[in-house]
Amino acid sequence: MTVASLRSKDLVGIEPLSPDEITLLLDTAESMRAIGQRPIKKVPALRGRMVVNLFFEASTRTRFSFETAEKWLSADSLNFAAKGSSVEKGESLLDTAKNLQAMSPDLIVIRHGSPGVPHFLARHLKAGVVNAGDGAHEHPTQALLDALTIRQRLGRLDGLKVSIVGDIAHSRVVRSNIWLLKKMGARVVVCGPPTLLPPRIEEMGVEATTDFDHALDGADVVMMLRMQLERQGKSLFPSVREYFRHYGLDAKRLAKAKPQAIVMHPGPMNRGVEIASDVADSGRSVILDQVSNGVAVRMAVLYLLLGGHPWEGES
Ligand code: CP
Repeated sequence: MTVASLRSKDLVGIEPLSPDEITLLLDTAESMRAIGQRPIKKVPALRGRMVVNLFFEASTRTRFSFETAEKWLSADSLNFAAKGSSVEKGESLLDTAKNLQAMSPDLIVIRHGSPGVPHFLARHLKAGVVNAGDGAHEHPTQALLDALTIRQRLGRLDGLKVSIVGDIAHSRVVRSNIWLLKKMGARVVVCGPPTLLPPRIEEMGVEATTDFDHALDGADVVMMLRMQLERQGKSLFPSVREYFRHYGLDAKRLAKAKPQAIVMHPGPMNRGVEIASDVADSGRSVILDQVSNGVAVRMAVLYLLLGGHPWEGES
């Protein structure tokens, strides 16, 4: 069965989505890619719609790709950064959001350091809410752009072995990817030092290992995660040098994966910590494809949540 629309006004995570909704989002993103390849990158699909980008945490890729997606679909955007706003005078999150709601936006895109903030806003606001990353909980549009990239390179998601390596404990990317990849039939292995593997992660239907070579063996996809030092209260590994020796991906180590295996990283990368430049900049790396696909995925999310109208030249 295929679906023609999403069931919710919000995209707060991958967990609530059905496989059909994920397929709809990926197929819509695929058709959005054509807009970015035109000489004039603009269609009137969301003309007259207003989107507020509310970022309480740093971002380069997510924030710019949402803004690009909004511009290419002709939506009006307002960009909010906590610094310089009345949040600095002590205004609460809910009051900030209600005041923004009073200006009648159709959709709010939010990144926040606390898990559950997008869900809280979605319950209180008439506008749709999109989670652009909430603490270590979920980053749904990242998992969608990762899936789009895997599908483009390897032709499918089901049956693939996807190994996700690094700071599993503090990663919202890993949680959204596990939900998505499991729903779409992939086999997921998570790998990292014991201090960075959350207890009972296997209950999400994944294999957990501290053995990097085992995780790489037969992998179709190797997804390296950033070491999130800012979310670690104390040092959880002896030294960067030691970490790279055991869990850093270089060309020698990558040879243990399948010959056609692709290398992914959500960014920003710590070169020499979790990934070596000889791999990050190689032909096996799809890291910049992930960034390009981020625009297409965010266009698809905006278009489907806001019920965008067809445009001339739409296939
Ligand atoms: N992947 C990702 O979320 O990157 P940013 O933090 O730069 O948005």
